[in-house]
Amino acid sequence: MRTIPTQRLRLVPVDRSNAQALWRVMQSTELRTYQDLPTMDCAQFVTLMSSRGSRFGPGCSGRFEWLIEHGEARVPIGWVSLRIGERSGESGEIGYSVLAEHRGKGLATEAVRALVGEAFDEGKLRALRAYCLPENQASRELLRRIGFREDGVLKHGASLRGRAVDVLTFALEAPR
Ligand SMILES: CC(C)(COP(=O)(O)OP(=O)(O)OC[C@H]1O[C@@H](n2cnc3c(N)ncnc32)[C@H](O)[C@@H]1OP(=O)(O)O)[C@@H](O)C(=O)NCCC(=O)NCCS
Repeated sequence: MRTIPTQRLRLVPVDRSNAQALWRVMQSTELRTYQDLPTMDCAQFVTLMSSRGSRFGPGCSGRFEWLIEHGEARVPIGWVSLRIGERSGESGEIGYSVLAEHRGKGLATEAVRALVGEAFDEGKLRALRAYCLPENQASRELLRRIGFREDGVLKHGASLRGRAVDVLTFALEAPR
């Protein structure tokens, strides 16, 4: 995995050195309105992140996470993730979250666009998927801006506050 620079951001691979910063971002309760996030304590989270593979490239599988840092001060404002199942071939699933005080400026769009570029250019994936709750309008808008196409509903596709919920499914194919 590499650090991905954008105009206003740096997407920094999460490892032992910055897992604590990501954990702190994740404690913001408003991030849990439309998604369940890990409830483990900081030490457990750092251990989990340290156990993840750091090689990212064609043929890789696993879960890859980047901390989003904003501006020269490198303020942690959220994260983006990419999950590639062992049997999912050349397709992956993206995730993203940005703290409320950093929304509405196109920063999340900038981060996810960079993640999509990384997945196609460096990971050589051929397609990406995303899932979101129907009522998560901001997330739907972000996916639409980036070019994802809504293509269905996955029954009980996610869990929210411990209950299975239906999610909208989105797809994006790599440019030819
Ligand atoms: C989903 C989420 C990341 C979207 O964040 P966001 O701030 O709406 O997205 P952006 O940073 O791209 O900002 C978009 C807004 O900035 C505006 N904007 C300003 N400059 C922009 C630019 N250069 N590029 C794109 N949009 C820009 C857009 O017009 C848009 O405004 P609007 O909200 O009035 O329509 C955020 O709501 C979030 O983290 N939610 C909680 C976690 C979550 O639900 N994650 C997704 C689970 S599926």
